[in-house]
Amino acid sequence: MKEVYLDNAATSRDKPESVLKAINDYYQEIGCSPGRGGYECSLAAGRLVLETRLSIAELFEVATPEQVVFTHNVTHALNYALKGFLESGDHVITTSMEHNAVVRPLQDLAKAGLIEVDYIAADSQGMISPEQVAEAIQENTKLLVTTHASNVAGTLLPIAELANLAKQEGLLYILDTAQTAGVYDLNFSDLDLDVLAFTGHKGLLGPTGTGGFVISKEAAKLMDTLIEGGTGSISDREYQPDFLPDKFESGTLNTMGLAGLKAGVDFIKKEGLKTIREHELDLTKRLIEGFKSLAGVSIQGPGSIEEQTSTVSITVEGVDLGELSFILDDEYEIMTRSGLHCAPLAHKTIGTFPEGTLRFSIGYFNTPAEIDYTLASLEQILKEY
Ligand SMILES: Cc1ncc(COP(=O)(O)O)c(C=O)c1O
Repeated sequence: MKEVYLDNAATSRDKPESVLKAINDYYQEIGCSPGRGGYECSLAAGRLVLETRLSIAELFEVATPEQVVFTHNVTHALNYALKGFLESGDHVITTSMEHNAVVRPLQDLAKAGLIEVDYIAADSQGMISPEQVAEAIQENTKLLVTTHASNVAGTLLPIAELANLAKQEGLLYILDTAQTAGVYDLNFSDLDLDVLAFTGHKGLLGPTGTGGFVISKEAAKLMDTLIEGGTGSISDREYQPDFLPDKFESGTLNTMGLAGLKAGVDFIKKEGLKTIREHELDLTKRLIEGFKSLAGVSIQGPGSIEEQTSTVSITVEGVDLGELSFILDDEYEIMTRSGLHCAPLAHKTIGTFPEGTLRFSIGYFNTPAEIDYTLASLEQILKEY
């Protein structure tokens, strides 16, 4: 069997042909920066960026495309939102399943004595309950920030209930969709979110260096800028524009990347989220069933497939997971990830700190044959270990 790539939670390696073509076409046919000149290729770049905005707005069901702000990844988007909203004396609620993209900016602000943070402890399967969140709300709680799904255990958090709770209690809600955008339905308007942060290079099938956030018009007024500079608009003024998306989008955009991102999102729409999700879940079930039949293998995640993304973590009794990942790659050309997956709190929560887990994350282009080959290879390695 050819190489098997099972690290889609890190980045989707296989991109649709249309994504590669769009990146190439951008440099072949456009090559200029949007909003920086009145000549045709700059106008064409502007149209391309607008079309990408429209495509993202449609995917997340956002009222107007201006509410889509581009950054270089979800880490930048989350930093932007957290640091743009939070002020001295604020209290923040988050969960113990967060990626360092949420934990580190919060810890940084807390260390500087500016904010207070409560980490709601998930159970050993990575699940948290909205009741726990409700109990943690204080008078000075400004916002709730959570991931949609754990990048370690694959657990899907109850975001509709959390969004409801945040609305009822007058909290801002920032959602990290790094592990779910492009696979799960994410309706910004129905969920009534304040900020939905996304990354382009995972489930959205775009290139690295793309991502951003969707923001409600009310929240946009409350959020300060972190980065100011050229926007190509109202250039007669020395002050940052206060309208969307320019308020938060300074500096030359990754137009080449956005061309690819648009093609990725268009591919997803053509295939259908349901088709993508069902394919990934079929393979996930196949993988989990296979793991269950292997002696010594423990699945570190939710017990039910309804609460599980296509990311599955395991530990293996008496086996060094780093070595196992290495053998899978070196001898069988199966790419997985071992260790702590940039989420140390999540590992402490599910009991896999400091060794971490061996993570298999499935993408739309994986096949049943690849899953069977992976299981057979793992069985063979463990037999000889
Ligand atoms: C839940 C979660 N949040 C944030 C990130 C950071 O993504 P990026 O590196 O694209 O900013 C990741 C990436 O692994 C993730 O899984």
